[in-house]
Amino acid sequence: MKAIAVCPAKVILFGEHFVVGGNSALAMTIDLPTVVTAERSQTDHVRIKSESLRLEATFSADGNLTESSDLKAESTLRPIFEVVAFTLKKIGHSTEGFTISVKSSVPIGMGLGSSAATAVGTVSALTALLNSPLSKEEVFEAAYSLEKMVHGHPSGVDQATITFGGMISYRNGTVESTLEISKPPLLIIGNTGQRRSTGEFVGKVTKLRETRADEYRKIASEAQAISDKALDALRNGRNESLGPLMNENQRLLELVGVSSPELERLIAAARSAGALGAKLTGGGGGGCMIAVAETATYEKVSQAIQAAGANLIPSNFLRFGVETYLRES
Ligand code: MEV
Repeated sequence: MKAIAVCPAKVILFGEHFVVGGNSALAMTIDLPTVVTAERSQTDHVRIKSESLRLEATFSADGNLTESSDLKAESTLRPIFEVVAFTLKKIGHSTEGFTISVKSSVPIGMGLGSSAATAVGTVSALTALLNSPLSKEEVFEAAYSLEKMVHGHPSGVDQATITFGGMISYRNGTVESTLEISKPPLLIIGNTGQRRSTGEFVGKVTKLRETRADEYRKIASEAQAISDKALDALRNGRNESLGPLMNENQRLLELVGVSSPELERLIAAARSAGALGAKLTGGGGGGCMIAVAETATYEKVSQAIQAAGANLIPSNFLRFGVETYLRES
């Protein structure tokens, strides 16, 4: 028997970083799948395979590395072992042997939720395999708790978006609302190719919030007003209003120091080519940007972002979060 969890990736449309301090964020799932397969194995070890990265590592039940395909394998795959250990403890299952395989089309460390998708997928596949399926709320809680162990103060927006799916407004650990979208915004995603650590940039904004509280409060309240207006525009199908709001949101992200020259070059190229608006998405400092365009300018904006040095990430809005299946091997 195999359990297979298929997770979407995520894009934050508005409110990243400010969501960590208690603002709301608007995020949606896109059809870049991460597929996690869990199987029992004959040994009492946990074997983790990343098919996309061609890495493999095996850990004993108490977390010692017993085998690895190369030097990078342990650091890349240990977080997945931690998800397995945490999940087994959560459902009160004693350790036995498993093979966990991850196959992902999400670029790692680029702001599209690759680590959240792997965590949500691993929790879902393993609990399904062990006949202890969790509710979506429990999957979210488990993946969020794990993320808190990895980087100090995450908001949980990535884990919530990927677990529940669709277009959501998220605040303070809960999905405030799920939006019924008839016409998703026409988004173009450009990847700078520069990998960065979300934790580092979250730390930077946290420092600002703690040391220059008045200045931060003012910026955060502007960011909240933008998210509120964007929510209203999305609910009423006024996608053209999203562009100027994205530009405003980007200005605030620049003010708190999480943008980068590479992101700004792509954003400027998108705007000059006629995008309605553009901003970074996710942790910033590199990673991805998004632009919103009209049908008539979509191609021109896409080409301009690419000509400015980005890899385009073709993807569409997806209404579903993680889905889990059981299959006879
Ligand atoms: C990362 O995708 C979003 C951030 O707001 C961090 C978080 O919410 O935990 C930058």
